[in-house]
Amino acid sequence: MSDEDMKKKEAAAGGRDPVKREETLIRLEDIYKIYQTGEETVNAIDGITLSIEKGEFAAIVGQSGSGKSTCMNIIGCLDVPTKGRYFLGGRDVSHMKDDELAVIRNQMLGFIFQQYNLIPKLTVLENVELPMIYKGVKEKERREYAVQMLEKVGIAQTKFRMPKQRSGGQQQRVSIARALAGKPSVILADEPTGALDSRTGTEVLELLKRLNQEGNTIVLITHDMGIARQARRIIRIADGKVVEDMRNDPGPAPEPAGTAGAWKKGRADIEEGRKDP
Ligand SMILES: Nc1ncnc2c1ncn2[C@@H]1O[C@H](COP(=O)(O)OP(=O)(O)OP(=O)(O)O)[C@@H](O)[C@H]1O
Ligand SMILES: [Mg+2]
Repeated sequence: MSDEDMKKKEAAAGGRDPVKREETLIRLEDIYKIYQTGEETVNAIDGITLSIEKGEFAAIVGQSGSGKSTCMNIIGCLDVPTKGRYFLGGRDVSHMKDDELAVIRNQMLGFIFQQYNLIPKLTVLENVELPMIYKGVKEKERREYAVQMLEKVGIAQTKFRMPKQRSGGQQQRVSIARALAGKPSVILADEPTGALDSRTGTEVLELLKRLNQEGNTIVLITHDMGIARQARRIIRIADGKVVEDMRNDPGPAPEPAGTAGAWKKGRADIEEGRKDP
C-alpha cells in the first residue's frame, strides 16, 4: 500500500489509532502490581492504562502509598507488572527477564533520584561518563559529550571535583547531566527536588522544563501538586488507579516559598473544584 493509500485508510478510520501511534513512547495496558504479604493482598497498581507520547513532560502525582514508586519502577523497567502489558518504544517489556530489562534501561531510560545517587569515588565528569561506558562509547567521545552535558546543566567548571564537595543543587545537576549522557528516550525523575531547598528546587524544575522544550521526554514523580503543576500534563493517582489526567500550562516556575506571587500562571484553570492530592 502506498503512503497516500495508507493516509486515506487512516483518515477513513478516524485518524491513527492512538494506541499504535509510533510516537507513543510509553504504553501501559491494564497494569496491575499485586503484593501478597501473609494474609494481606495489596493492589499497589490496580488497573492502570496510560500512554505517554514522545516529547511530553508528564507528572505522576499522588499521596504516600498511592503507588507512585511502584508505577515508576514499572515504567523504569526496574520491576515487571503482575498483570497487564507495558510497551516501551513499541516493545513489549512486561515479561522481560532482569538482564533484558537492564539492557532496555541502558538504551532507553535516564534516571534522576531524590538523593542524586552519584558514585562518591568518581569525579563529576566520571559520573556523567558512566552511562556511556555501559553503552561502549569510546573514551574521547564520551569525555567530550560528558563535558557538553555538564555545560548544558551549567556546571562544567566543577568537572574534576568529587560529588560530595558540591552543593545539593549542583549534585542534582550532575545527576541530570548523567541522565542525559545516555541519550535516553525517557527521563524519569523521582522526587528530583525532594532534598533541595525551595529556591534550588525551582532552578532544577526550570532546568527540566528547558530540557523538555529541547525535545526530551520527561516523567516526573512527586507527592507535591505544586511541583506537578510545573509539568505540561498531570496524571493523578490514588489507590493504584489514575483518578485524573489533565493538560496543564505550567507558565513560569514558582517563586521560592514565602515570597509574594508564588504560582502565577496556569493555576486557576486546574484548581477550580479540585483539591491537592
Ligand atoms: N514490596 C512490597 N510489598 C508489599 N507491599 C508493598 C510493596 N511495595 C509497595 N507496597 C504497597 O503498595 C502500595 C503502593 O506503594 P508505593 O511505594 O508505590 O507508594 P508511593 O506512592 O510511592 O508512596 P510514597 O509517597 O510514600 O513513596 C502501598 O500500600 C505499599 O505499602
Ligand atoms: Mg514512593
